[in-house]
Formats: sequence, structure tokens, C-alpha cells
Amino acid sequence: MEATLTLYRTGYSGLQIGLHWAIVAMVAVQLLIGENMTELVEAAEEGEAAKATDVLWGNVHLWLGIAILAVMLARLVLRVTQGVPQHAGDTSPMTKLAASALHGTLYVVLLAAPISGLVSYYGLADIGELHGASRPILMLLVLLHALAAIYNQFVRKDGTLSRMLRPQ
Ligand code: HEM
Ligand code: HEM
Repeated sequence: MEATLTLYRTGYSGLQIGLHWAIVAMVAVQLLIGENMTELVEAAEEGEAAKATDVLWGNVHLWLGIAILAVMLARLVLRVTQGVPQHAGDTSPMTKLAASALHGTLYVVLLAAPISGLVSYYGLADIGELHGASRPILMLLVLLHALAAIYNQFVRKDGTLSRMLRPQ
């Protein structure tokens, strides 16, 4: 089923690799400054003056979040148009399914996080708490994803991590 829907290539392109690591850096910053946005929103709701640091990092949170949304959409377009490599090494169907499900969930969460942030920020719905749940969810998913990459690279020695570092 997957083979008929997915375009395969020998490795990731330089652009795919660059955008993967750009997202890692942007998401790390976003998780660090999320609370400044919470403080900024709370100050506005209580009619108090916001701290200058919260105004600064709150604005960075807004624009970086929009950049993450744009880059994730670009990555989806690249996946469809340029393709992705098949799973590295001799992988069982269950492991392939788990890896694909984890990648898919990362896409869903990183599209849902900025969209729910925008909806909450512009007062379209009161989903600030749901949006904030993106932190523990992302931390868990990224931990599993990174551990799997490291395990494949260094224990199974199938070059999984290398191909996310060198374009092919
Ligand atoms: C991938 C992108 C994003 C991630 C990972 C993210 C993550 C977070 C985190 C961890 C918090 C702190 C929650 C807490 O205090 O416990 C937060 C708060 C917030 N973020 Fe984001 N955010 C993202 C994008 C955005 C965008 C694009 C906006 C649009 C303005 C936004 C608006 C907000 C708002 C309004 C809050 C305060 C929520 C509240 O407590 O009412 N976020 N975000
Ligand atoms: C915010 C953090 C991260 C996100 C959202 C993320 C997301 C993804 C996604 C969606 C893919 C599938 C390929 C694609 O569609 O481009 C992927 C592949 C990959 N990621 Fe990450 N990743 C993150 C962090 C990391 C970290 C910290 C590592 C290394 C320790 C890592 C290593 C890899 C590797 C090696 C692949 C290739 C796996 C394969 O094709 O078999 N990622 N990542």
C-alpha cells in the first residue's frame, strides 16, 4: 500500500536535511520561550503592562511558530514531489510501521501546534491549554525518534543518522 503512495529516492536531499535540522533548532527555541507567550497573554487578559522580555519573546514565539508551520508544509510538499528513502537496513514490517507512524505523528503535531497557537492568540477559541500540551507531547515523540535514530545508527549500524546528515 505504502509503496504505491510514496515516491522513493536513494537518500534525503540537501534541502530536506537542512529543513529537518532547521525545524529541530526552531522547535527547541519555541519550547524554551513558550512561557513568555503565556505571561504576555495573561498580562493582556488582566489589563496589566507586560514585561519587556515577555513582549520580545512572545513576538518571537508568534513569528517562529508561523515559520515552523511554513517549513513543515514545505517539507510535506518536498516529501511528495522529491520522495523519501526507504527504511534503512533490513527492517521488519512492524518496525517500518512504527517509524512511519512516528514520522507522521511528528508532522501532525507540528502542524497542529502553530495552528492551535494562532487560534488561541487571535481569540478564535479558548484552546491555550491544549496548545501548551504540545510541549510534553513533542518532548516524548522527539525523545523516541532520536533514540530510534541513535540505536539504528550505532547498534544496528544501518546508516540511518548518516543519511540525515549527508545528502544523496
Ligand atoms: C510549533 C510551534 C509552537 C510550539 C511548539 C509552541 C509551544 C508553546 C508552549 C510550550 C507554550 C507554553 C505553554 C505553557 O505555558 O505551559 C506556548 C504558549 C503559547 N503559544 Fe505557542 N507554540 C507554537 C506556536 C505558536 C504560534 C504560531 C502561536 C501564535 C501566536 C502561539 C501562541 C501561543 C499562545 C497564545 C500561548 C499562551 C497559551 C495560554 O496559556 O493561553 N504558539 N506555546
Ligand atoms: C523537533 C525535532 C524533530 C522533528 C520534528 C523530526 C522530524 C522528522 C521527520 C518528520 C522525519 C521523516 C523524514 C521527513 O519527512 O523529512 C525525520 C527523519 C529523521 N530524523 Fe528527525 N526530527 C526531529 C529531531 C531529530 C533528532 C534530534 C534526531 C537525531 C538524534 C533526528 C534524526 C532523524 C533521522 C536520522 C531521520 C531519518 C530517518 C529515516 O529516514 O530512516 N531527528 N525526522
